[in-house]
Amino acid sequence: MPRGDLDGTTVVLGVSGGIAAYKAVELERRLVDAGAHVVPVVTESALRFVGLPTFSALASEPAHSSLFEDPDPIPHTTIGRRADLVVVAPATARVIGSYASGISSDLLTATLLATTAPVLVCPAMHTEMWEHPAVQENLATLRRRGVHVLPPEEGRLAGGDVGAGRLAEPARIVEAAAEVLRSTRARASGDLAGLRVLVSAGGTREPIDPVRFIGNRSSGKQGHAVAEAAHARGAEVTVVTTVGLPAPPGAEVVRVETAAEMAEAVLERAAEADVVVMAAAVADFRPKVVAGEKLKKRAGPPDLVLEPTLDILAELGRRKRAGQVLVGFAAETGDMAEEAAAKLESKRADVLVGNDVGASGVGFEWDTNEVTIFTRGGSRAVPLTTKKAVADAVLDAVLDQMRPGRTAAPDQEGALPA
Ligand code: CTP
Repeated sequence: MPRGDLDGTTVVLGVSGGIAAYKAVELERRLVDAGAHVVPVVTESALRFVGLPTFSALASEPAHSSLFEDPDPIPHTTIGRRADLVVVAPATARVIGSYASGISSDLLTATLLATTAPVLVCPAMHTEMWEHPAVQENLATLRRRGVHVLPPEEGRLAGGDVGAGRLAEPARIVEAAAEVLRSTRARASGDLAGLRVLVSAGGTREPIDPVRFIGNRSSGKQGHAVAEAAHARGAEVTVVTTVGLPAPPGAEVVRVETAAEMAEAVLERAAEADVVVMAAAVADFRPKVVAGEKLKKRAGPPDLVLEPTLDILAELGRRKRAGQVLVGFAAETGDMAEEAAAKLESKRADVLVGNDVGASGVGFEWDTNEVTIFTRGGSRAVPLTTKKAVADAVLDAVLDQMRPGRTAAPDQEGALPA
């Protein structure tokens, strides 16, 4: 028995019709060598490049290519259910498009729609096709739904052309497949599995006129790191964000700009969330009147009258249901412990992450952060480390709040320990 990264797993290898179909043969062999039980599903056009007997000979069972001529009357659901992972390599623009649109036109696309297993798509096509907005939008749709995409490499293409679109090397695909399986397993057994985590990230922008705004220096990196960490630990994640940083695969991403938009997006989703992490730097005040046209210099300095925005975290505190954990962030330059204790109480948060933004390497654009995590039970200092590690420490504190007997129910308002 071979032993490897994919030992004991069933991998459905989807092969669609491009010149790179010949590389799928080597990939198939490598998947088998890595310990996988490989079930090839080959499209009609792929068979124009490589014959079915080749795939059958190297696979763990005969290759499938037809919805109707298979010994199994419903091969797509049977194959889809058996899969621990589906790898599509090469994935043509047609297969990517059908999959993104939910159109099952053959056994491979039907299997992709029927399976609940993780899917790794490895596109290969000519550069012009790869760069076409339709293909890129379809891939973005698939990524949003949690499909993993291993982008093609640059190199020689069919017809002597050179550019982006060459199928990733088979060894690289096997590595990516193993990584997808590892992260899927880690998520399934993660300590946040089954929980819904809502994270806000980035700084809001409050318009003064059509071209100017009042903003702040938040980069959104810490909030997005919390989203990534929560996803890796198994949570269903929603990110309400002002920035275009990557979000975890399958996460719901809501782009907002102003404090009012953020409030609406967060409050609309908060009731279903088990955990809400307000990592966003929300403006406390916004211009009372927004000029409809660009303010001209010759009119002199404008009289900016500001009005308060809704304090989202405080509103979440008012609406908090039993068992829900609320996390606030506080960017401080003064006495953090005192401020944090006051905010825990006034906003009815369960966890308050104090950020000394006056220190070096901390906050804003940095990839590192140094925080103190306050709860009603005490505080924990997290020395300078990555924002990812800070995110995990924050989530540890959240879990701590969820342990029996520790849940802060709404009627425990402001009960700080002596
Ligand atoms: N926050 C919010 N809505 C606002 C302002 C802030 O939800 N309109 C949240 C932030 O996302 C953060 C927490 O409140 O989690 C702390 O915000 P902070 O920057 O400390 O602002 P304030 O609470 O207004 O306190 P300060 O008086 O120190 O500015």
